[in-house]
Parts: sequence; C-alpha cells; structure tokens
Amino acid sequence: MKVREILKMGDPRLQRVAQPIEKFNTPELIQGLADMKETMLAAHGAGLAAPQIGWDVQVVIFGTGQVISRYPDAAPVPYTVLINPIITPLSDELQNDWEGCLSVPGLRAVVPRWQSIRYTGFDELGNAIDRTAEGFHAKVVQHECDHLMGILYPQRVRDFSKFGFNSVLFPELAPEKSA
Ligand code: NI
Repeated sequence: MKVREILKMGDPRLQRVAQPIEKFNTPELIQGLADMKETMLAAHGAGLAAPQIGWDVQVVIFGTGQVISRYPDAAPVPYTVLINPIITPLSDELQNDWEGCLSVPGLRAVVPRWQSIRYTGFDELGNAIDRTAEGFHAKVVQHECDHLMGILYPQRVRDFSKFGFNSVLFPELAPEKSA
C-alpha cells in the first residue's frame, strides 16, 4: 500500500472514459485498491476514483463509515469498493448542495445531483452490488462515477455565483471532506 499522487484538474488523464474491469480478484486490482484506500484516507477524502491516481479503470471507492458533520442525521456511508458501476435515478428530484473534489483542491461549488438513486456494480471479488441511496450517500456515488466518464464537478455547476474558494466561502468552518 502506498499513498499515490492525486491528479489535478487540467490533467488529460482525468478526462478519459475509464475502461471496464474484466477480471476480478487479480493482484493488480487488489494492489490498486489498497493504494486508493491509503490515498483517500491520507487526503481525508470522502471518496476516490481510479482515474484520480492515473489508473484508467472503472473503479471507485467511497465511504468511511463515519458520520459526516454536515449530515449529522444521515446514516454513515459504509466503506465501499464499486467496480463497473451503473447509476439509475429513482426520481426526477434534484438536490443542490456544496461539493468539493480532491482533484480541484481548495474550491467548492453547489452542484445539482439526483436525490435518490439505485447503483449496481461489483466488488473486487466480482460479487454483485445492488443498492439504493439518498442524500449524501447518493451524492458521493454520483460524484465518483462522474470521474469514470471524465467529468469533474465544475462541469456540473449551473450557478457560478456559488463556486469559489473554501477559505472565502466558509472561513468559520473546518474544511469539509472532498471526493
Ligand atoms: Ni472528485
């Protein structure tokens, strides 16, 4: 396990459509996931996508099992490995909320996301995952899966008056987790 460099916005490796995983439980996959977890924890992230460390595969991780301070009533998101994901919105309802990204350090914006989703995919052993999620959990899944399509959250911003530096927007608050 080692902490890897997190690529920053502007790097063309963040703009690719990632390749699907075809073989599970391989040494390369297990090693890559260990590096991703170490990197996410070291950066205090809420999630991380493989392209953020320059790994061109459809692999994301998210969740720390801890309560998020801005969502004290939301159930903690369990640590999850999600491979070859597919997201289906469960209603047309969008929620606008602040979002950050480890590849866009220091900045934050209000981004619309589906309030309620179903997501499917596989874990590292090839076991099927099929879950529904709402609120913060749904938001982080959508953010991470966007990375696999080469999309960073600034491309989702609709109201650019709500896009700025953390230190200016929230000078009184501790930094929120980014993904
Ligand atoms: Ni991100």
